[in-house]
Amino acid sequence: MQTGLCYDDVLIVPQYSEISSRHKIKLTSYVGSYLTLDTPILAAPMDTICETIMAIALHKEGSFGILHRYNEIEDQLKMYLEVQKAGAQCAAAIGTGDDCLERAAAIAGAGCEVICIDVAHGHHANVKKTITELRKMFKDNIHIMTGNVATPKAFEDLSEWGADSVRVGVGGGSVCSTRIVTGHGMPNFSAVMACAHSGGKAAIIADGGIRNSGDMVKAFAAGADAVMVGNLLGGTHEAPGKWVEDSSGQRYKKLRGMASGEAQSKWRGWTSVAEGVSGHVPDKGPVKGVIKELTNGIKSGLSYSGCSDLQLFPAKAEFVMQTSLGMGESVPHFNGSEIG
Ligand code: XMP
Repeated sequence: MQTGLCYDDVLIVPQYSEISSRHKIKLTSYVGSYLTLDTPILAAPMDTICETIMAIALHKEGSFGILHRYNEIEDQLKMYLEVQKAGAQCAAAIGTGDDCLERAAAIAGAGCEVICIDVAHGHHANVKKTITELRKMFKDNIHIMTGNVATPKAFEDLSEWGADSVRVGVGGGSVCSTRIVTGHGMPNFSAVMACAHSGGKAAIIADGGIRNSGDMVKAFAAGADAVMVGNLLGGTHEAPGKWVEDSSGQRYKKLRGMASGEAQSKWRGWTSVAEGVSGHVPDKGPVKGVIKELTNGIKSGLSYSGCSDLQLFPAKAEFVMQTSLGMGESVPHFNGSEIG
């Protein structure tokens, strides 16, 4: 039986550095055709994370949003056109069900160059069929993002079937209950690393369970070309949804897994097995500030490895496993308190 590691199980070993300022560090990532990002952070295609306003804001920061697919084709198309009118670009998600090719035709027909086949279990015949159909329709004129997968075999197969990029991560997201409900999954750090060391040629998008810039640095060091986040962008001003306020005046926005009972009943009117949960995230301010803090953290991370370019990072980075006691040492643990 193999051992699977999560982000908290590892640290990156500090190395000699000559980097004088983190501003000299380059984070540009080539995530495959039509997808070069100065800030390789992607917004998850969730209805509480990425619609028009989030996609426009992320484009301004050199990042990229994926418009979710839990709506009518014309609603998603309208969102895409609004993004394009605002002079920005984004991706759009489709499923593998009846309307998927019609949805892709509408969005790609309007100029969208990145289509994301967004399903929970990406190592599936339906994904192969959908990639094949998309390639027939659009040849190499679009970037096909697929997923989600958790094994090198799945990653190699999706690469072989024609995916430009693959979302790696099953069941590790903040709002996922897949591992509890189904018993399936793979700790995300190991999943990303195993895919990066496989024969698959697609770009890797580390997806789910990323809680801070440190997790992002570990994902990039393991071989991810970009990271995808839901929770970290939840509660920003650009996240879809209305504010709700608690009795102290603190504002919150809803965050929900797309396989949660609540999301399923909203987008299809009924619920099968719920594999996600929902809740509220406190106001985090504008997304610009969140992205800035994350990119500063990532740059600082690269400087500890003496690496000035994200492209060179996986070859340079060295990992060490930490014990659960080590994890205790790795988080703030002083005994002081604020003087009231
Ligand atoms: P974070 O941790 O960034 O993860 O919030 C975002 C990713 O979580 C996945 N996702 C789900 N997975 N049930 C799941 O098992 C769900 O209901 C669900 N909703 C989102 C998805 O990969 C997303 O990018």
